[in-house]
Amino acid sequence: MEHNLKIKVEEFAKKYCKKDSEDAKLWENHVQLVRKFALKLAEIEKADKDIVEISALLHDIGKDKGRKGHNERSYELSKKFLEKINLPGKKKLILKCILKHSGNFSKEDNEIEVKVIQSADALGTFFDNEWQKFSRETMPKQELLDLFDKSFKKINLVSAKKIAKPQIEKLKKLLD
Ligand SMILES: [Fe+2]
Repeated sequence: MEHNLKIKVEEFAKKYCKKDSEDAKLWENHVQLVRKFALKLAEIEKADKDIVEISALLHDIGKDKGRKGHNERSYELSKKFLEKINLPGKKKLILKCILKHSGNFSKEDNEIEVKVIQSADALGTFFDNEWQKFSRETMPKQELLDLFDKSFKKINLVSAKKIAKPQIEKLKKLLD
């Protein structure tokens, strides 16, 4: 991705992610992990790297007003932001990735970039050690196990499932 564009997207996304009250490290931990896995999966799945990287950076910006419906708020904020950016041919799919990153869309047959973001979002949660530690300390075991299942179901790429499985086993062992 062009350097100036990357800086612009990062600055905008960081500003909103910093307003999230539930996860103080949303930007540093979750978003950077989603970005890392999105680029890794894009390599494996031959998806557009610019589209998935920008989508990863922007997908959770709407959490500044709470979790509920945050994908729609992320979409609206990103739409306004992207209007000012020169990115021919890629904006529509970026916005779709953002809008559909929530788990309830992962059964749909969408573009590979959308699947990459849905899967990377779940991987980002499984590999967020600080978040997982916080969850272990604050949630009952069964609730956590149910959450692992729910997040795993969101992963709709075989390549991403392979990455998730050993990590979930590791997390489950920490519950014993
Ligand atoms: Fe996310």
